[in-house]
Amino acid sequence: MSARFVSSGSVRVIFFLWASVLSLGLSSELKVKVRLPDGRITEELLEADSERDSITLEYRQTDGTLITFVADFKQDVKIFRALILGELERGQSQYQALCFITRLGHNEIISSESMARLRQKNPHTVRTAEEKRPTETFSMNVAVNVTLAWQLSALIYNTCSVARDATYTREADMRHWLDTGKCF
Ligand SMILES: *[C@@H]1O[C@H](CO)[C@@H](O)[C@H](O)[C@H]1NC(C)=O
Repeated sequence: MSARFVSSGSVRVIFFLWASVLSLGLSSELKVKVRLPDGRITEELLEADSERDSITLEYRQTDGTLITFVADFKQDVKIFRALILGELERGQSQYQALCFITRLGHNEIISSESMARLRQKNPHTVRTAEEKRPTETFSMNVAVNVTLAWQLSALIYNTCSVARDATYTREADMRHWLDTGKCF
């Protein structure tokens, strides 16, 4: 999974995901070596929580940015968080946190049950994606109150409380959540 951010008037986010997990062999936490699109190798942490019906993927990009992806299957919500390292010599704080929330489509990603069953025979093997998904572009210009978003998914609060001033969603998603009474 990888994310690039382009800031303009509204926050535009370009994400692309790839599945690197399907050929692995129950542990709820797995560390996998994966090759990023730029050819570099990074370690990806895969976690499944069957009780909460959620999964988490996390890896560090070459520039040091920590990318966390959370899928909440109960609430059909997906969360992308980026922790971008600041430039300390320029007086910036240690990292900048950004969070992006959107609806999770059905069968969009491996289920928490399947992920919990994954094992790998050789942890040193570098995995490459078996499936490359097209780039998706999201235009997110609605700021989300992380405290109130607890009602929608507790995972939003847990994941995005470090990004209180920088958590966004799409207008259409916000409207959907309002229509289904999961307002915040
Ligand atoms: C978010 O909601 C909480 C609870 O209603 C409120 O106390 C807080 O001021 C809100 N934050 C912002 C930035 O509006």
